[in-house]
Amino acid sequence: MFGSGVLRGCVFFFIVVLYAHGDLSYSVMEELKRGSVIGNIAKDLGLELGRLSSRKARVDVEGNDRQYCEINLQSGDFVVAERIDREEHCGEKPSCVLKFDLLLEKPLELHRLSLQVQDVNDNAPIFQKDVLKLEIQESALKGARYRINAAHDADVGTNSVETYILEENPHFVFSIQTTSAGTKYGDLVLDKELDREEKQDIKLLLTAVDGGSPRRSGTVVIHVIVLDANDNAPVFSAAVYTATLAENSPINTPVITVSASDADEGVNGDVIYEFSRISEKSQKRFSLNEKTGEISVRGGIDYEEGNSYELFVEAKDGYGLSSEAKVTIDITDMNDNAPVINVKSLTNPVPENASPGTEVGVVNVQDRDSENNRQVRCSIQQNVPFKLVPSIKNYYSLVTTGQLDREVVSDYNITITATDEGSPPLSSFKSVQLSVADINDNPPVFEEQSYSAYVSENNKPGSTLCSVTARDPDWRQNGTVIYSVLAGEVNGAPVSSYVSVNGDTGVIHAVRSFDHEQLRSFKVHVTARDNGSPPLSSNVTVSVFISDVNDNCPQILYPAPEGSSFMTELVPKAANGGSVVSKVIAVDADSGQNAWLSYHIVKSTDPGLFTIGLHNGEIRTQRDISESDSMKQNLIVSVKDNGQPSLSATCSMYLLISDNLAEVPELKDISYDENDSKLTSYLIIALVCVSTFFLTFIIIILGVRFCHRRKPRLLFDGAVAIPGAYLPPNYADVDGTGTLRSAYNYDAYLTTGSRTSDFKFVTSYNDNTLPADQTLRKSPTDFADVFGGGDGSPEVGTSAIFNLTL
Ligand SMILES: *[C@@H]1O[C@H](CO)[C@@H](O)[C@H](O)[C@H]1NC(C)=O
Ligand SMILES: *[C@@H]1O[C@H](CO)[C@@H](O)[C@H](O)[C@H]1NC(C)=O
Ligand SMILES: *[C@@H]1O[C@H](CO)[C@@H](O)[C@H](O)[C@H]1NC(C)=O
Repeated sequence: MFGSGVLRGCVFFFIVVLYAHGDLSYSVMEELKRGSVIGNIAKDLGLELGRLSSRKARVDVEGNDRQYCEINLQSGDFVVAERIDREEHCGEKPSCVLKFDLLLEKPLELHRLSLQVQDVNDNAPIFQKDVLKLEIQESALKGARYRINAAHDADVGTNSVETYILEENPHFVFSIQTTSAGTKYGDLVLDKELDREEKQDIKLLLTAVDGGSPRRSGTVVIHVIVLDANDNAPVFSAAVYTATLAENSPINTPVITVSASDADEGVNGDVIYEFSRISEKSQKRFSLNEKTGEISVRGGIDYEEGNSYELFVEAKDGYGLSSEAKVTIDITDMNDNAPVINVKSLTNPVPENASPGTEVGVVNVQDRDSENNRQVRCSIQQNVPFKLVPSIKNYYSLVTTGQLDREVVSDYNITITATDEGSPPLSSFKSVQLSVADINDNPPVFEEQSYSAYVSENNKPGSTLCSVTARDPDWRQNGTVIYSVLAGEVNGAPVSSYVSVNGDTGVIHAVRSFDHEQLRSFKVHVTARDNGSPPLSSNVTVSVFISDVNDNCPQILYPAPEGSSFMTELVPKAANGGSVVSKVIAVDADSGQNAWLSYHIVKSTDPGLFTIGLHNGEIRTQRDISESDSMKQNLIVSVKDNGQPSLSATCSMYLLISDNLAEVPELKDISYDENDSKLTSYLIIALVCVSTFFLTFIIIILGVRFCHRRKPRLLFDGAVAIPGAYLPPNYADVDGTGTLRSAYNYDAYLTTGSRTSDFKFVTSYNDNTLPADQTLRKSPTDFADVFGGGDGSPEVGTSAIFNLTL
């Protein structure tokens, strides 16, 4: 074989470009160095240079592991990738064609390239042996011929053996013959008779020269031994033997037996067999039994490496007469190669929004066997949304059959199965991992349709109301949920001044303290948005209910609170038991139980006379009014709500039993004292004391009178101070009517505000001799003495009033 260096200078290959059914044919010399340009595919196919790389242009050799050629994606050149040895690839075949597939994707496009490999004279003729022994009878006549085995030259055509040159000698000439197949061989022709006695050994150098340029040659030494006579050459039973051998046949499997017979007797008739011409390749695979002529397997019978062998066998008798037969061995294919699956390209990951029918990969399947053994069926498993679509020749497209959804299945293991049609069939599998890439196709979804939050009023700002949760099954930022409150108004104020939401957790906080009396409930819209681009969002309504807390006291509307004008209800004397005389009206700003009011009389002048409706506040007489009932009746009413704890308010109600306002002797504040009964007892004690004093005084007077006759008379009238400022204008008139029962009325009044007051001493009502405006200035301490000196007692509450009727 030639080194590539020899060829470097002489680029004498020629290129033929043919267009046949869109296929390209190129021709190239064997043994070119790597990178040598064979042709420009881009130009020949009219392809845009820039698109070669994006269409993943690629050259695959059919049925061979070796990548002899490749395409240069920048220039579009078809270049040699590996040394091509024509003899290795095609042996002695006269024409050597390599087939390639040029594959382009998007769309998948296949071009066939055929490359004719031209022979280069890189092999010299070789004789099977270095020395050829030839035993010739001395009796041989002039013109006798002795066949010389042809020299073997692996090259073909003109590069194979062209001629033989025999060294100059006195006895022999060389006659060149040509077989029908064009092989040149020759006969040694006796030109001048031999004389064994003159010369027993003759050595001649025979040179075989090929027709290449430069010429190459091989030599053999023909050693002629001059003998006595041997008349018959061995004769083969057939000129051509044909055998069939299954590939992978084990070593020593007999293939065929050749036989030749020799008519001579003895040593002259003993035939031995030898390979006369055999290629290196064949020599490694077959052996020949010298004695029996049996050809058997030496090893390595592989159909894929060679499907037919030609051997030449020589049968030779003891004295050098020989004949040659040809043996053709055809190898039959066995299904010994499983299909090979090559994933030529793969779009991974596949976006989940890829429409059905999208091509995601290209798969090529090859089987090195032949005929049915190389017919391959290719499939993938059923339960995936992909299928294999046969494309060109043994190419398949992997396409989607349905809509992908990463949220359901994010990875696919696709098992490609290729089975040939041999018997038994062989299969191979290839697993392809395909991931589905996320697309932001799911908006966040709230776990609930709507949310409600309940909060008691007077909450702390910042307190948690509730939390909302939305889920988004998308990947990473496409599934990251961010919460926000949708802008809006509550009660005319921006919603953000009421609540805020934690963007990450969805926890909703109150921004301010709520007041149930102002706002019972409101709604806010919370949006959940993912972080995709564009983002998707959804919203939910959160209703916030503010529950009531009993934070408002009942408010009494009627009677008007004390301190403002006095109100007195007139009760007709004829009022029957059960008639409504007045009504306490109260409201509570709270609601529900907290605003459910109940009315109670906590204090009354005459506990049996009036009742109050527990729930409506109506004041009714319990019985008929009788003459003996006091004209002025005071009630202290407490209004309570039903909260926990409950709040209350009290009011005083002044009732005057009278048919005519004009009769009313005094529309004075008719008040109570908490210590009324205590005071009453003090008063009784005081009165008893006064009475005792009075009686004692009378007795003393009488005694004095007894002693000092005729002393003047003294009248004592009990007098009680009434603050003049509180007397109504017509009080004196009332006083003067004298219609009230003859009794002593002691009224005393103390204000909380001042310790000094105007007091009016009033005599008994039936005595109108005293002027109405006759008042005394008296300090309350002096007054308190009357009641036993209790200092604090009259000041409890807003006022302390006692009323005593004798
Ligand atoms: C896919 O195949 C690989 C290896 O064959 C394995 O590790 C993986 O668990 C498989 N995945 C699924 C989803 O079957
Ligand atoms: C999110 O979705 C967009 C398309 O909607 C996609 O381009 C992006 O790759 C996705 N992000 C992730 C992290 O998958
Ligand atoms: C809230 O969501 C509903 C449907 O879920 C939609 O019709 C409405 O437009 C959304 N409102 C806003 C302000 O985004």
